Amino acid sequence: MAIARRTRTTAGMCEPAEMSPPELRKREVGESNPLVGLECWPRMFLRPAPIVCDLGAGNGRFAATYAELHPEWNVLAVERRLPRVRKIRRAQELRRLSNLRVLWLGWDDLLLFWSQPESCREIHVLFPDPWPKRRHQIRRTLSMRVLTAIFRVLEPGGFFRLLTDDSGYYATVEQAAAALPGFGRSEDPGAFPESQFETIFRSRGCPLHGAIWRKSEGNGTERKKRGAA
Ligand SMILES: C[S@@+](CC[C@H](N)C(=O)[O-])C[C@H]1O[C@@H](n2cnc3c(N)ncnc32)[C@H](O)[C@@H]1O
Repeated sequence: MAIARRTRTTAGMCEPAEMSPPELRKREVGESNPLVGLECWPRMFLRPAPIVCDLGAGNGRFAATYAELHPEWNVLAVERRLPRVRKIRRAQELRRLSNLRVLWLGWDDLLLFWSQPESCREIHVLFPDPWPKRRHQIRRTLSMRVLTAIFRVLEPGGFFRLLTDDSGYYATVEQAAAALPGFGRSEDPGAFPESQFETIFRSRGCPLHGAIWRKSEGNGTERKKRGAA
């Protein structure tokens, strides 16, 4: 199935390219993609600014609101289901969010094969598909390999935020993150807009599990705090 052509529309939106996730997955981590240079995706935006990623963005409620609240940042929503990609794109157009882009792509592929090290200020993974049955857990996107890629893609001082209703998934990620030197639990820097699933789960009174892990600066200080351009 062909997805993801990287051409620009008049709105600057990244269009699907002829590249299939299974082909990408066969590649080794770190191998560059022959169709798109590793440095390409930050250039989707009209101007250089800190990049914030919403991975598995769903209908894009979080990404669009965050982009609206922070016009000084570039917000990248990544989603693999086309109807949801279209919703995000509609929100981008209706709300004239020139700092929001959407990619129709598996976010694990983005992290593993298409991204530059130290290129993102924030990475949000909100309610990743939980695959709660033990035999299905292999399908979870947040594997150790992908978490390591998140760490690589974050700028020093940048953070990864996970929120889920699945305590088992959360515990697995917490354990994996603890094994990455230079990735430390951090205080929540403030209120974030709710995603669609967050609103749903909160309205049902479900317990939620979440944390923020910050990539160290290497010298023990947190130079790039959230919000600093
Ligand atoms: C449970 S929904 C959560 C949506 C949104 N983050 C929210 O909190 O409202 C999970 C979303 O992640 C998308 N998704 C799952 N795995 C993905 C992957 N590997 N790459 C891109 N999107 C993915 C699904 O299509 C779905 O839209």
